[in-house]
Amino acid sequence: MAITQTKLFLFSLIVSSTILTTKSELLSSKREKLTRFRLHVQNIIAGSNATVATVAQASMTNQSATLFGQVAVVDDVVTVDPETSSKNMGRVQGLVAFTSQSEMVLSMSMTFVFTEGKYNGSDLTVMGRNLLSLKVREMPIIGGTGLFRLARGYVRTSTYSSDLKKGLIVLVYDFYVYHY
Ligand SMILES: *[C@@H]1O[C@H](CO)[C@@H](O)[C@H](O)[C@H]1NC(C)=O
Ligand SMILES: *[C@@H]1O[C@H](CO)[C@@H](O)[C@H](O)[C@H]1NC(C)=O
Ligand SMILES: *[C@@H]1O[C@H](CO)[C@@H](O)[C@H](O)[C@H]1NC(C)=O
Repeated sequence: MAITQTKLFLFSLIVSSTILTTKSELLSSKREKLTRFRLHVQNIIAGSNATVATVAQASMTNQSATLFGQVAVVDDVVTVDPETSSKNMGRVQGLVAFTSQSEMVLSMSMTFVFTEGKYNGSDLTVMGRNLLSLKVREMPIIGGTGLFRLARGYVRTSTYSSDLKKGLIVLVYDFYVYHY
């Protein structure tokens, strides 16, 4: 019995390592390419349909002009064009925190989840420092899944519009991503 199980185990190891080798060979035989595209993020900061939720803050956050110590989660709709009604490409979900005591800085860890078009089912993860006073902010793309496996690159983001009465901030995201 034990021997049979060991044999089975070894067999499955060999099979899975063969599959792994084939997959990584397939990937390395492909050439890395640069893909560029622009998307818009619908960031609703207030109201009953808010897509940002503050989850925690430090006791000193209320006294901080830069909101130091505030942490929020985000689940924004991603669209092709700036209009909220334009084609929905997916969501961007993640964690943001105000992490500077002297400037408005967001440390962001966000995954773009594509649910439309050729990237449907693939993700891209952006992680970095977002200094909000800059017109154009740049952050690294640190990886991805699906068609974006082994992705690397960067995004450039800026504020397209900000309507504080409606509680809607629309952001432009330009992606420059190397992937296979
Ligand atoms: C929230 O979304 C619903 C459905 O899209 C919409 O009817 C409603 O007006 C929205 N509420 C606000 C406060 O924007
Ligand atoms: C910070 O301010 C908010 C809103 O005024 C208040 O609800 C909260 O209790 C304050 N928190 C601390 C730690 O002072
Ligand atoms: C995206 O992929 C999911 C899962 O494979 C599928 O159910 C869905 O229909 C796809 N959506 C589009 C718009 O192709």
